[in-house]
Amino acid sequence: MQNIESKLQDSKIQDSRIIVALDYANNASALNLVNQLDPSLCKLKVGKELFTVAGPQFVEQLISKDFKVFLDLKFHDIPNTVAKACEAASNLGVWMLNVHASGGSAMMQAAMEGVSKSKHTPYLIAVTVLTSMNQTSLSEIGIDTSIEDQVLKLAKLTQTSGLHGAVCSAQEAQILRRQLGKEFCLVTPGIRPKLGNGQVNQDDQSRVVTPADALNNGASYLVIGRPITQAISPLKVLEAIAAECLAATSLLA
Ligand code: C5P
Repeated sequence: MQNIESKLQDSKIQDSRIIVALDYANNASALNLVNQLDPSLCKLKVGKELFTVAGPQFVEQLISKDFKVFLDLKFHDIPNTVAKACEAASNLGVWMLNVHASGGSAMMQAAMEGVSKSKHTPYLIAVTVLTSMNQTSLSEIGIDTSIEDQVLKLAKLTQTSGLHGAVCSAQEAQILRRQLGKEFCLVTPGIRPKLGNGQVNQDDQSRVVTPADALNNGASYLVIGRPITQAISPLKVLEAIAAECLAATSLLA
């Protein structure tokens, strides 16, 4: 039986499946957390709020600390504009970036062309249906198919447009993995590790999945925010989740 220290050593050697969501209003708060984390155990996600206040220099600062960065700006515009935005984001040296699949195949192909103009080669993924949407809000914008069918349709369009993967809920991961094959990258938020008492803290997420279950469902990377950012000891929680991921992926191998 391997102890936690040697499991952690092993997970540092592997590509980390954990992406910590830096949902902060300023760089000082984000850096306070980042300085407690280990880049061999996680990647970092910078979203619209932090990017708007902290800018590209902050992303470059994270990269200079050896972290891989997922720039979560969900571009959605005319193809030419999205292509230029994706090229600019790629030039920052980010590891992953994203667009909205509902921008259509012409926009996604243009995004891919933008990425390929950069000397860096980030993963380009697409958001299918936002998990904040329900059947009513989907109908409001003229889409009357079920959410599940719409997610699958947009994920397939993402794949045929040449992108590397999609953001989806961990529940959707199983069917998308089956339908889209093992190379397609699935990035899943809504992850909650079990607490010591076996319970999970859902926060405002309505459907949550444990790290091991998400990986078993076929997720490639797990986006995790508050369970790590709000922890008393973020590094300890990160280490425990990394060990859980390693155990799950060893069983999958
Ligand atoms: O704190 P928590 O783990 O819930 O954070 C999840 C992160 O994933 C946040 O940055 C949130 O915006 C993002 N996200 C999500 N659900 C989606 C897409 C992104 O929770 N469908």
